Amino acid sequence: MSTEILSVGSVTAEAELKLHLAALLDEARSRTLALLAPVPVAELFAQQDRLMSPIIWDLGHIGNFEELWGVRPLGGSIRPEYDSLYDAMTNPRSTRDKLPLPEFERLLGFLRDVRAGLLERLNRADLGDGNPLLRDGYVYMMLLQHEYQHDETILATLQLKLGEPYHPAERRALPGGDLRVGGMVTVPAGEFWMGTDDRSAAYDNERSRHQLHLDAFQIGVAPVSNAEFMKFVEAGGYRRKELWEEAGWAFVQENGIVAPKHWEQDADGAWHTRSMDRTEPVNPRRPVVHVCWHEASAYCRFAGLRLPTEAEWEKAASWNPATGEQAIFPWGNEPFQERRANLDQLAFMAAEIGAYPDGVSAVGCHQMIGDVWEWTASDFVPYPGFQAFPYDEYSKVFFGPEYKVLRGGSWATRPGAIRNSFRNWDFPIRRQIFSGFRCARDI
Ligand code: AVJ
Ligand code: FE
Repeated sequence: MSTEILSVGSVTAEAELKLHLAALLDEARSRTLALLAPVPVAELFAQQDRLMSPIIWDLGHIGNFEELWGVRPLGGSIRPEYDSLYDAMTNPRSTRDKLPLPEFERLLGFLRDVRAGLLERLNRADLGDGNPLLRDGYVYMMLLQHEYQHDETILATLQLKLGEPYHPAERRALPGGDLRVGGMVTVPAGEFWMGTDDRSAAYDNERSRHQLHLDAFQIGVAPVSNAEFMKFVEAGGYRRKELWEEAGWAFVQENGIVAPKHWEQDADGAWHTRSMDRTEPVNPRRPVVHVCWHEASAYCRFAGLRLPTEAEWEKAASWNPATGEQAIFPWGNEPFQERRANLDQLAFMAAEIGAYPDGVSAVGCHQMIGDVWEWTASDFVPYPGFQAFPYDEYSKVFFGPEYKVLRGGSWATRPGAIRNSFRNWDFPIRRQIFSGFRCARDI
């Protein structure tokens, strides 16, 4: 099957695509600003954590990135003097509060000017076959996904923020879980298709689509729950050196880590956890979140299991054993709907295991998309035929053994920035992200 998402075949298709892109861009900006609305401006400028940017930097960077890719390649510029402020490569996150960042109202004006400049150029752009940057609206899909991804980064910063917790303007209610969902499924040996050849929305690191043979394996029907992870905590998992990789052991020792991030133990020994402004006793039925790769890997060793490779994860999410076909989402090729997965931010926390029977993959895995990003055993390396596009700094400069791949998106991921082939990556010690994992084993 084809994973082509949209193709411009006629004048009407092009006109409709432009309207569609403009509506998506508008919606993306509304969401970004709605997330920030409850935060006092002074807090937007604060360095909430040395791992993260001041939130106002993310906002300015979204605008500068939009100018760089949505305005300049089509002629002209708006504020080239902002390029050096918002360059992610030359400004480490921990130093971004020292930059002479424009104040809030001025920044909003800049965002509006860039957006007006972008729409004016979109109006007269040729989205046909010529330029691969514009073909089928690729650059606009890239800008959208960039903003969506920074929204998630902003949410991780808000979860970390000092002082008064973040109060979401509204919280979407989540469906309850299903205690029957658990255990492992067997994925039989054989070939499957990994990655995509799509050039209308996919990132360069998802290409090219290639066939891969995997031996039979088992993989968790669901992500590891808080109940399961609690057993590891209570069995002294954080004190048992033999369960840890050397670097992971050093990391937890040096930082006094004894539980997932955002867990707190009260005087009676009961564990509580906080998602933004909501604190609750650790709910055994939700997936564990805010664990680093090392905690995931130590848990797996404790349980006599291992992390899945990213190929195993993708096969379990996308491969249909009945047809041999590859699907874009675990539930198939239909676009996201609320009943399929806990995506799109507004729940502000992960749902219980088994809450999304309508999102199950063909082999029977629940919640592969949404709730928590899932760490895999794999290093972030290019696929066969990889070509950096449209710039080296999205993926290429990060390839290598320092980064581990995460799959599947979290509750904080916008639906437009996730699919079975989507690859995220981070350092194995990072746990401020909305990260959990599921286990696998050989058979
Ligand atoms: C894919 C989440 C690792 O946040 O560094 C944002 C996404 N790239 N702007 C990141 C990204 C450029 C990226 N991750
Ligand atoms: Fe960025």
